[in-house]
Amino acid sequence: MSIPIYTYDAIIVGAGLAGCAAARELQNAGKKVAVITKLHPLRSHSGAAQGGVNAAFSDEDSVELHEFDTVKGSDYLADQDAVEFMCQKAPETIRWAERMGAAFSRTADGKIAQRPFGGQSSPRACYAKDRTGLTLLQTIYEQAHRAGVKFWDEWYAADLIYKDGKVSGVVAFNIRDMQTVIFNAKSVMFATGGYARCFKINSNAHANTGDGLSIVARHGLPLEDMEFVQFHPSGLSGNGVLISEAARGEGGRLINSEGERFMEKYAPNALELASRDVVSRAILNEIREGRGVGPRKDAVYIDLTHLGRDLIMERLPELRDLAITFLGLDMIKEPILISATAHYSMGGIPVNIAGNVRKNNEEYVEGFYAAGECSCVSVHGANRLGANSVLEALLFGRFVGKTMVNEIDDIELRPATQEDAQAALNEINWVLNNNGDETITGLREELQQCMTANAGAFRTKETLEIAIAKIKELRERFKNIRIKDKSKVFNTELQEALEFGHMLDYSAFITESAIARNESRGAHFREDFDTRDDENFLKHTMAYMDENGDIALDYMDVTLGKHELKARTY
Ligand code: FUM
Repeated sequence: MSIPIYTYDAIIVGAGLAGCAAARELQNAGKKVAVITKLHPLRSHSGAAQGGVNAAFSDEDSVELHEFDTVKGSDYLADQDAVEFMCQKAPETIRWAERMGAAFSRTADGKIAQRPFGGQSSPRACYAKDRTGLTLLQTIYEQAHRAGVKFWDEWYAADLIYKDGKVSGVVAFNIRDMQTVIFNAKSVMFATGGYARCFKINSNAHANTGDGLSIVARHGLPLEDMEFVQFHPSGLSGNGVLISEAARGEGGRLINSEGERFMEKYAPNALELASRDVVSRAILNEIREGRGVGPRKDAVYIDLTHLGRDLIMERLPELRDLAITFLGLDMIKEPILISATAHYSMGGIPVNIAGNVRKNNEEYVEGFYAAGECSCVSVHGANRLGANSVLEALLFGRFVGKTMVNEIDDIELRPATQEDAQAALNEINWVLNNNGDETITGLREELQQCMTANAGAFRTKETLEIAIAKIKELRERFKNIRIKDKSKVFNTELQEALEFGHMLDYSAFITESAIARNESRGAHFREDFDTRDDENFLKHTMAYMDENGDIALDYMDVTLGKHELKARTY
């Protein structure tokens, strides 16, 4: 039976802030656009962003300070031209979101309220209580819908159609009944989100399995700076669910088992509002040195009791609910237990400022774009500042949509053929029919435990070698899987098998890129090379995977600018 081929001008994979913002631009420019998403759009992970979105608005702040904080936060690995673009466009982006209908929290005199966040010189995070991402996602999704964008909800994008260095669409199946469709288009954008799900304790949605990255890598295209995974300082103890940086921004204090406000030792000026990599390592260090709290002594306290009920109920209601639900602790009355949690992916699909995907250091793939967390533009370098990710997704999503509008008429539609779906169909059939004795849940658990233990916030050559060997072993054992569910109706076991294949691929990128970077920079902390080495490593990693799953590394220059390299202290 032949597979239907549906033709659009543009296909966007992913319906978070970046995907919805881009889709709206295309649709409003008269282009026929489809968004394919494995979730309902409002369940996209952008909706989990809690604390805020940065823009230099206030009289005490400036675009230049925002740039400086971002570059310093990145440990000087960010590309300064991209940082300048983002910080300059940030205020206008917030005003645009507000015009679209986003209801930001307000000051008493009616201005958009802004709160302090880590690594920032001025209160800069505009917020909607502690539901900023959800507020923005609801707004931008509604506007995309209203413009007439066609959303293919709960469709799983299984492959990119990429031939002769050009893209011409996506192969996807309906999660409800496995109906497969070839989406043929002049241009494709990936906005597929991040990859922290390969760590056991993480703040990410179950959907954040890095599918888009591995699909790209399987076509021989590079992934950039994959070794840089951010550990957020405050995940709920035991499950990693995010307790927003807003808790520290509003005045939360971190306390160890001795009752010490221990950030005084690690960041005497910024304290709890140092950059995330610094605070996360401080927390983990306290725990490693025996000053942890909680039943397993694997957490520290965040104390918000001094803020009072009114402030907590007004600005942090969601966080309070989360701590009550998962830990039974009410932050109004008592400190709650937190520790570092894998949170954000600085690395991703390499793109230029316009969103064009790189084929290598010099060339781009015609008709292929990426934005949001799956992309690496690179505005975050080695460590992202809190509240710059929502900004990146909104801002670059919208501007990449405009790029696509501008370029689409110069791209010729390459008609898709049945053959284009073959690789995806082969993979699906293999998963359905393979008859081994390994389970996906078992393999995934081993991967996550291993990545957390050996490729997490602290790494060495030895631990990374253990992780690399484990990933190779798991690749072999993956060939021996068996799924119990052979049906075609909401076969989540099949989907999890496909997703696990992606997790294995990008975990290899993380570990191989990390073992070659013999320095510590931002979120990549090598205990055996514990300082930054600008002479040898002020460069982006560009990693390529061959058909055997082996990774080859190349490097690309960092775009420097007016913010000169300095030692990073807080
Ligand atoms: O802490 C937070 O609210 C997370 C925000 C972010 O990752 O930017």
